[in-house]
Order: sequence, then C-alpha cells, then structure tokens
Amino acid sequence: MNIGQLKTFKRSAEKIACLTAYDASFAKLFDECGIDVILVGDSLGNVIQGNENTLDVSMEDMVYHTQAVASNVNNALLIADMPYQSYNKAEQTLNNAKRLIEAGAQMIKFEGGAEHQTSFEILQANNIPICGHLGLQPQSVIEMGGYKVQGRDEASAKQIFDDALALEAWGVQTLVLECVPAELAKKISKALSIPTIGIGAGVDCDGQVLVSYDMLGINTNHLPRFVKNFLQDNNSIQAAVNAFIGAVKDKTFPGDEHSY
Ligand code: KIV
Repeated sequence: MNIGQLKTFKRSAEKIACLTAYDASFAKLFDECGIDVILVGDSLGNVIQGNENTLDVSMEDMVYHTQAVASNVNNALLIADMPYQSYNKAEQTLNNAKRLIEAGAQMIKFEGGAEHQTSFEILQANNIPICGHLGLQPQSVIEMGGYKVQGRDEASAKQIFDDALALEAWGVQTLVLECVPAELAKKISKALSIPTIGIGAGVDCDGQVLVSYDMLGINTNHLPRFVKNFLQDNNSIQAAVNAFIGAVKDKTFPGDEHSY
C-alpha cells in the first residue's frame, strides 16, 4: 500500500479500512488481515498510558511506538501522529516529522487547520506526506470544551469545509474527519480529490478508522457512539478485524446509529 494507491481507492470508490496500532504484535496481525492503513495514533495516551487525554504524549513516545509498529508491517500504509505541541513552528514541525519518518512512518498526521499553514507548507516543500485531522481534535479537548461533535452550526461547518480545501491546497494527501455530522463529511469528501478517513463522520467518507482497543472491546471506559465492538460477534481478533474490514468495504459500517 502506498500513498498513490489511496487516491486510486478514492477514484474507484473502494473504501479504505484503517486501525490504530501501537506495538509490533497487533500491527503484524492487522497487516496480515489485510488492513489498508495503520495509524500509530497519539490515542496511545489513553489506551496505553491510561491518561484522560492525549496531551502528555511525547515525541519520544511516538518514535518508540512507530518503530515497534513499523518493524512488523509489510503491506499497510503506516501513518504516525505528531503529538501535542510538536508542530507549533515550521522548523520544529519539519524536524519532528523527519524523526517519525526515520522511525518507519510513510506519512505523518497532525490536528488543525489554517493556523498551521507554515507547517503544512514546509512539509510539502520537503516531500513529507501529510494526513490532516479536522473536526474534533483531541489535542484541543480543553479549548473545545470536551469531546463534542464539531461543525453542527453553519459557521463552524463552513470553517471545517474551508480548512479542508486549504489543507488539500497545502499538499495534504489524506484527511481524517473526526466527529462531524455525516452530511458535512459527505460534502467535504465530494469536494476533495484526496481521500477522507472518518471516525464518527458517517459512511460517506472515503475510509473509516477506529481505535483498535475500542473496536476489540479492550477499552472498557465509556465509549462514543461511533465505536462498534467487532469482537462481540466474532471468536478471534483476526475474525473481528476481518469483520471490520468487510463492513467498511461493503459500507455496512458505520450505520446511522454510529453517526451524527
Ligand atoms: O490518535 C488517534 O488514534 C487518532 C484517531 C482517533 C483518528 O487520531
């Protein structure tokens, strides 16, 4: 799987299935099941480190987990998250992105829109593939007043739409849309030539991502409505992952009950 293939998926309307992984064993299993994309998410702050949010995840943590995952991935595209405050300034963004690429990521992801224009531009100028992340941005959970659906009113929906167009213009090659109304995600996905990967953003995104610990029922905390436990009706982790991939590809996940 490479970045060019992501666009081919979008053109041919094949949905992209993505799961998070943080270690070699899960990464190998997901890869062998045929997952398209693996994300080393800074959600490791929640599910690995046991914190309330992702704000304490460091660059060292991300490099360590990216190396572990990369060592066992042969087919899936590997994306790694830039942690909180690791992309405040353009030069800092470039240096930290290079560390994640050296650790084995093929693409880096960070949260936010036009406020990070210089970071997007410096990565584009240095040919570092970028995945954007709009809608609910967990690293801004305090500013956003909690884990809330974004883009419900006209002004904030327009802001997210405009940011999505700007990100594509600044070289972003894939866009995660988290917790936005399904109609908005559909409009954005139609307007962009790059693929969107949704989480709580409805079935019309070009792909879907879930936190693996959530979709396997390992995370027993209160979970948002967009999560489905795929292990519940399957008798192995492999079967659950295959069910997730199948449900994304045939558009039976997410259903209306997982969307806003
Ligand atoms: O950190 C993460 O796992 C993520 C996904 C929720 C998209 O960013």
